Amino acid sequence: MSTAHRPRTDPASGRYAEGLLSHGRAGEYERLLLLEQVCDPGTIRVLASLPMAPDWHCAEVGAGTGGVARWLAERCPRGQVTATDLDTRFLDSMARPAPMRVSRQDVTTADFPPGSLDLVHARAVLTHLPAPEQVVRRMANWLKPGGWLVIEDPTYLPAEHSPYPDFAALLAACEELLARTHGTDNSWARRIPVAMAAAGLTDLGMTADLSVCGRDETEDRYWRQCFAQATPALLESGLMTESRIQRALSHLDQPEFTDVAWMMISCSARRPLG
Ligand SMILES: C[S@@+](CC[C@H](N)C(=O)[O-])C[C@H]1O[C@@H](n2cnc3c(N)ncnc32)[C@H](O)[C@@H]1O
Repeated sequence: MSTAHRPRTDPASGRYAEGLLSHGRAGEYERLLLLEQVCDPGTIRVLASLPMAPDWHCAEVGAGTGGVARWLAERCPRGQVTATDLDTRFLDSMARPAPMRVSRQDVTTADFPPGSLDLVHARAVLTHLPAPEQVVRRMANWLKPGGWLVIEDPTYLPAEHSPYPDFAALLAACEELLARTHGTDNSWARRIPVAMAAAGLTDLGMTADLSVCGRDETEDRYWRQCFAQATPALLESGLMTESRIQRALSHLDQPEFTDVAWMMISCSARRPLG
């Protein structure tokens, strides 16, 4: 099911819906599909470690192109998986298993009934929101006793530690651009366990997956797509020059080039049973 009405939105959410990463931007669909190819294996590893049951009710928040929601729906054939997003155009057009429904919602204002869900998952969403701790509390409230919250967000290693200054500068400039235009905070990922504990969740787990550039064709395609989308705004903002971007990108053509782009931090915790 898809809701046609405009969702209630927090004014800050407009920065995402209309900004650099808007679903209407050329290439954004391809970028999100590549993000799925890069990140879904790690996400599935985390989700598959939970004691999932076929009748679970799940919410996939900020579902993007829907890969994780589809996987959850296949794992929960007698349950329900609600894939939410500020902009559901990519979810509306995908082939969906029966338990999967689509709902256009802003997570900062959305409401699921308290205590109604076995699992809430969000990847690469809260890092873009102005008050992620509040969103964690809101999502924790949706969980049944014993229900699980899984949040995944990226964080970056210090640019000055990279042996490739131009490449590191390009990554850092993209980070800065997102911070300026979307309020993206890549330090948030380290704070997820604290936010989960403050929301009353227990049994905390934390793992991290490195995104390595130069060794995997899909990862490199993902980063090339990110850099291509960001280039006009990077030049306009003065954060990078054309020649420095070219020097940074040329590394991706060199067979020996290998560097860490980000770490995707995955945290899980659950609402106490009692
Ligand atoms: C970087 S993409 C990640 C997509 C997907 N979670 C993944 O990892 O493949 C962020 C997604 O969150 C959605 N989003 C951003 N702000 C949101 C909000 N306030 N409420 C719901 N979804 C939001 C975006 O529309 C986008 O689809």
